Amino acid sequence: MRLLVTGGAGFIGSAFVRLALKENWVARLVNLDKLTYAGNLENLTSVEGDARHRFVQGDICDTTLAARLLEEETPDAIVHFAAESHVDRSILGPGAFVETNVRGTFSMLEAARAAKTPRFLHVSTDEVYGSIDEPHDADENYPLRASSPYSASKAGSDLLALSYCTTFKMAVTVTRASNNYGPFQFPEKLIPLMISNALEDKPLPIYGDGMQVRDWLYVDDHCRAIWAALTKGAPGEIYNVGGSRALPNRTVVEMILDACGKPHSLMTTVKDRPGHDRRYAITTEKLEQATGWQALMPFEEGLRETIAWYKANPGWISRVRSGEYQNYYERNYSAR
Ligand code: NAD
Ligand code: TYD
Repeated sequence: MRLLVTGGAGFIGSAFVRLALKENWVARLVNLDKLTYAGNLENLTSVEGDARHRFVQGDICDTTLAARLLEEETPDAIVHFAAESHVDRSILGPGAFVETNVRGTFSMLEAARAAKTPRFLHVSTDEVYGSIDEPHDADENYPLRASSPYSASKAGSDLLALSYCTTFKMAVTVTRASNNYGPFQFPEKLIPLMISNALEDKPLPIYGDGMQVRDWLYVDDHCRAIWAALTKGAPGEIYNVGGSRALPNRTVVEMILDACGKPHSLMTTVKDRPGHDRRYAITTEKLEQATGWQALMPFEEGLRETIAWYKANPGWISRVRSGEYQNYYERNYSAR
C-alpha cells in the first residue's frame, strides 16, 4: 500500500506513521503537514532515514500542492489526520478551525477526486455527537449535535467527506474516535497537561466540577483501528472507535497524581469551559464486527507508560512549551 498521510507530524498522525512503517503496512508513505504549533518533526525522529517515508511541509488548503503530490506519488489511499484539534483553542479563535478542518478537508477531497485516488479515510471524532445523556451511547447513526467550534468544524468536514462518496462515488470512510492519550501528545489536552504540571508541582486546573466523562483510547489502538477501517471497512461507512474506558476527569487526574507521587491538593478548580460537553459515550461494535479490531491497551497500563514517557522526555516537553505555548497558556488559564 502507498499512502498519503496528512497531519503526520502531530500526535496521532505521527503515531500512525511510526506504526505503519514499523509494521510494514506500507511500501511508501508521504506525510503532508504544515507544522503548526502542534506539528513537530521531533515526533518523527525514529523514522528518520527510512526511505519509504517522505515528509513535505505544506498546507492542506493548498490544492495545487496536494494535486502535485498525488500526481508524483500515486498513493492507493489518503489518510487525513490534519486538523486544528483543541476545543479550548477553538473557543479562543474559531477561524483557523473552519479554515483547516472544513476548507482543508474540501481541498484534499477535491485533489483526491481529480487524481482518482482509490481510497480516502477521514479521521474524525466522537465529539460530533455532542454531549450524551446516560444511559445512552451514540452509534454511528446518532444525530450530530456538535457543541464547540472544533466539533462543529469536524462535523462539517465529516458530512463533506461523505457527500463525496454519495455524489462522486469516491470510496470515503469516516472514523470517529473517542479521546486519545499516549506519548507525544501536546500538553494542552487533559492528560499530558496534567502529567507535565504534576511533574513540575504546578497547579492542575480542573474545569468546573471535574465530573465530565470521557472515554479514553490509547493512541496506538486508534491507529490500528484506522488501519482496520481502511483495509477491512467499507467505503461510505462511518466507524466509531472507543476505548471502552469511561472516566470522570477528576478520577483521571487523581490517578495521574497518585502515579506521580504528588498530593491531590495540586488540583485547582477553575472556571468551566463554555459549552462544555458533560459526557461522551459511543458504541464500537460496528468496527469490531466489520474488522475484528479491539482496543487492547488497559487504561491503567497505558497511563503508566504515558507518564513514564513524559518523565523520560523533559526536553521534548520544554521545547514544545517554549514560545507559542506560553501565550496560549496565559490566554486560556489566566482569566479563569
Ligand atoms: P494534533 O493537533 O496533535 O496534530 C495536528 C497536525 O495537523 C499537526 O501536525 C499540524 O501541524 C497539522 N496541521 C494542522 N493544520 C494543518 C494544515 N492546514 N495543513 C497541514 N497540516 C496541518 O492533532 P491530533 O490530536 O493528532 O489529531 C489528529 C486528528 O485526529 C484530527 O483530525 C482530530 O480531529 C482527530 N481526533 C483527535 C482525537 C484526540 O483525542 N486527540 C480524538 C479523535 C479524533
Ligand atoms: P481535552 O483533553 O481538551 O479534550 P476534549 O475537550 O476534546 O474532550 O479535555 C478533556 C476533558 O478535560 C474535558 O472535559 C475538559 C477537561 N479539562 C480540564 O478540566 N482542565 C484542563 O486544563 C483541560 C485542558 C481539560
